[in-house]
Amino acid sequence: MATQLKTANDFGVKPEYGHYIGGEWVSGDSGKTIDLINPANGQVLTKIQAGNAKDIERAVAAAKAAFPKWSQSLASERQEILIEIARRLKARHSDYATFETLNNGKPMRESMYFDMPQAISQFELFAGAAYGLHGQTFDYPDAVGIVHREALGVCAQIIPWNVPMLMMACKIAPALASGNTVVLKPAETVCLSVIEFFMEMADLLPPGVINVVTGYGADVGEALVTHPDVVKVAFTGSVATARRIMQYASVNIIPQTLELGGKSAHIVCADADIDAAVESATMSTVLNKGEVCLAGSRLFLHQSIQDEFLAKFKAALEGIRQGDPLDMATQLGAQASRMQMDKVESYLKLATEEGADVLTGGTRADSAELASGHFVKPTVFTNVNNTMRIAQEEIFGPVTSVITWSDEDEMMKQANATTYGLAGGIWTKDLARAHRMARRLETGTIWINRYYNLKANMPLGGYKQSGFGREFSHEVLNHYTQTKSVVVNLQEGRTGMFDQ
Ligand code: NAI
Ligand code: MG
Repeated sequence: MATQLKTANDFGVKPEYGHYIGGEWVSGDSGKTIDLINPANGQVLTKIQAGNAKDIERAVAAAKAAFPKWSQSLASERQEILIEIARRLKARHSDYATFETLNNGKPMRESMYFDMPQAISQFELFAGAAYGLHGQTFDYPDAVGIVHREALGVCAQIIPWNVPMLMMACKIAPALASGNTVVLKPAETVCLSVIEFFMEMADLLPPGVINVVTGYGADVGEALVTHPDVVKVAFTGSVATARRIMQYASVNIIPQTLELGGKSAHIVCADADIDAAVESATMSTVLNKGEVCLAGSRLFLHQSIQDEFLAKFKAALEGIRQGDPLDMATQLGAQASRMQMDKVESYLKLATEEGADVLTGGTRADSAELASGHFVKPTVFTNVNNTMRIAQEEIFGPVTSVITWSDEDEMMKQANATTYGLAGGIWTKDLARAHRMARRLETGTIWINRYYNLKANMPLGGYKQSGFGREFSHEVLNHYTQTKSVVVNLQEGRTGMFDQ
């Protein structure tokens, strides 16, 4: 593999990175570091600081100090910074894509053509929003009401390892546009791209406006979210961690934006364009090795087309090129961490115990050259019942479970029989049916006749235990601002209400 020949040094990766606090790169208080690993070959890429509560204290103090000036800055200043970030990301598009691929194991073609454009679009989207933030007025016969919209203050943002650049972008861009300051905690397993981003952008951002503390969630999460100067938390990750975040947030009653997992229904009707639906199901299985909260991991297939569909689906997945993620030809990379691969493997084992059949895959990749990395074969289980754990729990691997159906009403009940509700897909040429099903699905985003059809400024977020709050759209600005209502009386003198 090429990754065994090239080292992290060849890509300009530094041997160690600090926290980014108050505009400076600083060592952590603990003196301990965490290795960032290339999951495609197990090699150590670099070291990051293992943060603790003292580091959080410093970072929150820096963010608090920066807030008064930043929240009063001109929209033009904030807009210019967001535009310049987008410009610089475009100029070093392939460098950042490489950092993402090196640390996460996702194929370079995805980093180049999915992650980076999506991340850049967040900065462009919110660059425009800086000028759009405004209040409201109400006219009354005897008064004028003014609603001001104000930035909140210091926001905690905690992001995962599956799409770090995009997660960083979708969190910091609206916070910057609306005049908040931030303490960002990236994931301890994958954050090389995010740290490199702040190395480059440091001269653009006024000191303290964004601070980055790396480390284990268990060591810094509580100190960050319960800090009395932190007024909001935005989190993307697992339901288990979200429950803790909500408890931390309850200490000072701060608002939360939570984007959690999914087990989305991808529904294929009898009249679907089968080739196009197979392509979408293939993409949903392999995109980012299935480490995507939006993945259509429950495929509801109409029984009248199952033979043709499954034959084509199997052939498509068996033709997927899995290998060195840095190779532009590679279509399926390595699971992001040892922990994640172990989790996926445990579900592969569980599936057969639960009585599902393996259509394809079902094991780790068996080629010798992939043995040192966390590679799992693209996998489809058939003969799945919606109540099985493999149909109910988020696997976060290149694994799709097929559930066949014949009665629309019964299938829709099953599609909604999940604790999650993040995304979903529908394939039919019948417009009325498509809308009928879309209305009935209890989920935040639905793609009709093309899965993963992400469009800029469409709100993204969950129903049920997939979380709450909507990101990726201007709607998120409501989560980063609060309103203040001011009523100006237009009448002179006393009301006389106590005159007897
Ligand atoms: P996680 O939710 O524990 O990690 C996400 C982020 O939360 C990381 O930055 C982590 O350091 C931080 N964190 C962990 N414990 C924390 C705490 N006590 N306080 C504050 N922050 C804390 O997710 P994990 O364990 O890495 O993955 C487990 C599963 O979660 C995955 O297999 C997947 O099913 C799901 N997941 C869903 C994601 C999504 O996009 N919705 C992203 C990542 C994971
Ligand atoms: Mg965890």
